[in-house]
Amino acid sequence: MLRDLLQQRRSIRSFTDAPVSKETIDILLQCALLSPSSRSIRPWEFIVVDEPELIRKLSRAKEHGSAFMAGAPAAIVVAGLPEVSDVWIEDSAIAASNLLLAAEDLGLGACWIQIRLRTSADGGSSEEYVRETLNIPASRSVEAVIALGHPNQRMSQCSLDNLEWQKVSYNRRP
Ligand SMILES: Cc1cc2nc3c(=O)[nH]c(=O)nc-3n(C[C@H](O)[C@H](O)[C@H](O)COP(=O)(O)O)c2cc1C
Repeated sequence: MLRDLLQQRRSIRSFTDAPVSKETIDILLQCALLSPSSRSIRPWEFIVVDEPELIRKLSRAKEHGSAFMAGAPAAIVVAGLPEVSDVWIEDSAIAASNLLLAAEDLGLGACWIQIRLRTSADGGSSEEYVRETLNIPASRSVEAVIALGHPNQRMSQCSLDNLEWQKVSYNRRP
C-alpha cells in the first residue's frame, strides 16, 4: 500500500555510476505528467538532464544543498508556468512529489533540490543559474531539481511510532 512506500522513501544523495535507463525515465515522466493540477491546466515542464557536464554545472546551482548532485547520473528539472496558472507552485510541487514517489517505487534514489527563492554558489539567484544553464526562458519559473540515480546509501525507513499526531485535530482545534 502507498503508506509502505511513503515510509520507505528517504532522500538519497549518494548514487552508483549506473545510468538510469530511458524506459525508467519515461515511467517517471508518465507519473509526473499524470499529476493532478488546478483546473487541469498542468502549468509545468520537465527537463531531463543526463549529460554529466550539465549535471556538474547544476550541482553549483545552490550555495548549500546541491553539491551532492554532481554524483547523480540524471536529474529532472521541474519548471512552472506562472503566466498560465496562479497556483503553478502547488501544481509543480505535486508533480515533483510524484517524481520522488515514483523513483522510490522503481527502486531508485532521489532527492528534491530547492531552486525557487534560493541563492547559487556564485551569489546570484539559483533560478537564474538553472535557467541560463539549460536555456529555460524567463516565462518559466524553476521550482526544483530532482536528482536521481541508483542508491549508493541505505537509509532507515520512517517509523509510524513518532508521527506528529499533535498536528492533527478533528472539526475544531482543541
Ligand atoms: C521543498 C523541499 C526542498 C528541499 N530542498 C532540498 C535541498 O535543496 N537539498 C537537499 O539536499 N535536500 C532537500 N530536500 C530534502 C529534505 O531535506 C528531506 O526531505 C528532509 O530532510 C526529510 O528527509 P527524508 O526525505 O529522507 O525523509 C528538500 C525537500 C523538500 C520537500
